Amino acid sequence: PLAADPAMPGTNFEPVAPNTDDAVTVPTGYEQQVVIRWGEPIVAGAAAFDAGNQSAAAQEQQFGYNCDFAGFVPVEGTAQRQLMIVNHEYTTEPLMFAGYDAANPTEEQVRIAWAAHGLSVVEVEGRSEDGRLDPVIGRYNRRITATTPMAFTGPAAGSALLHTTADPAGTTVAGTLNNCAGCITPWGTVLSGEENFHQYFGHADRVTDPAATAHLERYGFADGESERKWERFDARFDLGREPNEANRFGYMVEIDPFDPTSVPVKHTALGRFKHEAANIYVTDDGTVVAYSGDDERFEYIYKFVSSKTIQPGAGQGATRENMTIMAEGTLYVAQITGNSPAEQIDGSGAVPEDGRFDGTGRWIPLLRTLPGGRGESLVEGMSAEEVAVFTREAADRAGATKMDRPEDSRPNPTTGKIYIALTNNTRRGTDGNPAADEANPRNENKNGQVIEITDDHTGTEFTWELLLVCGDPQAADSYFGGFDKSAVSPISCPDNVAFDDHGNLWISTDGNALGSNDGLFSVVLDGERRGETKQFLTVPIGAETCGPNIGETRVVVCVQHPGESDDATLDNPLSHWPDGAGTVARPSVISVWRDGGRIGI
Ligand code: FEO
Ligand code: CA
Ligand code: CA
Ligand code: CA
Repeated sequence: PLAADPAMPGTNFEPVAPNTDDAVTVPTGYEQQVVIRWGEPIVAGAAAFDAGNQSAAAQEQQFGYNCDFAGFVPVEGTAQRQLMIVNHEYTTEPLMFAGYDAANPTEEQVRIAWAAHGLSVVEVEGRSEDGRLDPVIGRYNRRITATTPMAFTGPAAGSALLHTTADPAGTTVAGTLNNCAGCITPWGTVLSGEENFHQYFGHADRVTDPAATAHLERYGFADGESERKWERFDARFDLGREPNEANRFGYMVEIDPFDPTSVPVKHTALGRFKHEAANIYVTDDGTVVAYSGDDERFEYIYKFVSSKTIQPGAGQGATRENMTIMAEGTLYVAQITGNSPAEQIDGSGAVPEDGRFDGTGRWIPLLRTLPGGRGESLVEGMSAEEVAVFTREAADRAGATKMDRPEDSRPNPTTGKIYIALTNNTRRGTDGNPAADEANPRNENKNGQVIEITDDHTGTEFTWELLLVCGDPQAADSYFGGFDKSAVSPISCPDNVAFDDHGNLWISTDGNALGSNDGLFSVVLDGERRGETKQFLTVPIGAETCGPNIGETRVVVCVQHPGESDDATLDNPLSHWPDGAGTVARPSVISVWRDGGRIGI
């Protein structure tokens, strides 16, 4: 057992050393378990996973691929049961199918990929004696996929920009794609972000309308065939044939996990971009403020302030009412300014003379959504539905600040300060791209930073400060909140953020540029130890760490894409995690706990 240090509740563990192992490594005295793997049955009658004999019909009833977000909601009337809701961001076909021919996928492989996207709702049962968490075939269990029917709310619902052959009214859509991170709302639903949706569509070069082409370019749609060739099997993924289908992805999706027959909704009032997630702060009067990053180089940070307030009460009636909160309010984008002289920000990451990367900011309103979903554009030259669908272009016009890939955000439950991961931006300051500024202080930024925003939530002014400029602590260009850099773990490419019960921030990483595997880290925010960063676990080679949930007695993370690399295949694998030699690597959710004690105490 570890000696308790009351000075650091929640972060009292022996840090894990960086490594490149094909394993999850946890601190001494901690134990781990795989909760659920890609392909495990989650509904009654589902087939057992068989890597050599997959089918779309089976995958539709099994846990999906590449788990990212994981959120938990207690099941009422039970002591230890929760619904676990998990995003399945994307598929890695060369690691899923033996002998996969990327130039000619089969229709069944494509259909399996559609079924492996989306979300899983799985009941899990904990135990009082340890941190194990076991899946249950419960009555709420559900798979949501790339073909599950969904509805639109907000200004773009019914707009001509959403009209397609399959949906001439522009009000419904088949499925959700590239669900990265998200949150559990205070009213018990799930908000899930559609992120890199552009990759699923082919033939942008066949679009003839120059305005439509300009919109597609702003969102990064490619000419020619898509990587996965889905457009060969469903014309909606062929931009030349269905140019508006692309306008129907890139939203925040809300799902009621307690009603397996409910229709998920895409809230267009929160705008369309590569939503990493949206994370909620609730003000004293019940107003909901959702912060959201657009995860691409030089993209923006947004917030949505609801007009409605949370309705108390439980049950489906209250849930349905609260599911309209995200359909009425104002969408803003952030403009961020440093307070140190520009000549002190030279792109090296050197701390300016006032000792901090800090400054002020303002929220520029883009779109107001009124009752009934009617929109009012606050951007000259664009209609409300254009702002809802081409939100990046509205933010460009508004003069928003180009950031280093805004990822996940989380309000500190105690102080209300917002923490946002800015994962990296290797193009900062290159080839005519914007150079470093105080909030994005390194050119060719490989390791990312974490910004702390002090916002009054419903207003338009804020202050900010960088908590971490990530990287090798021994290098001059890293900054750990002013803490002693000889006493921290190296950290690179922050992606998801979470809080423990003691007010510590936890960060999971994706794409470690320091040569070791990704992992999960604790960061102290308050007092003399502010900036102290410790690695809690490492994930297997090729994997990213995501979906962190830091409980009192259990840490849950998703291990996404173990063994992924440019040339790894199922036949020539880099990873055999979690089941070892001779088995197929499987993205999985894990639970970690301390033998006989609370986490980090
Ligand atoms: Fe899917 Fe922004 O990470
Ligand atoms: Ca400063
Ligand atoms: Ca992410
Ligand atoms: Ca990421």
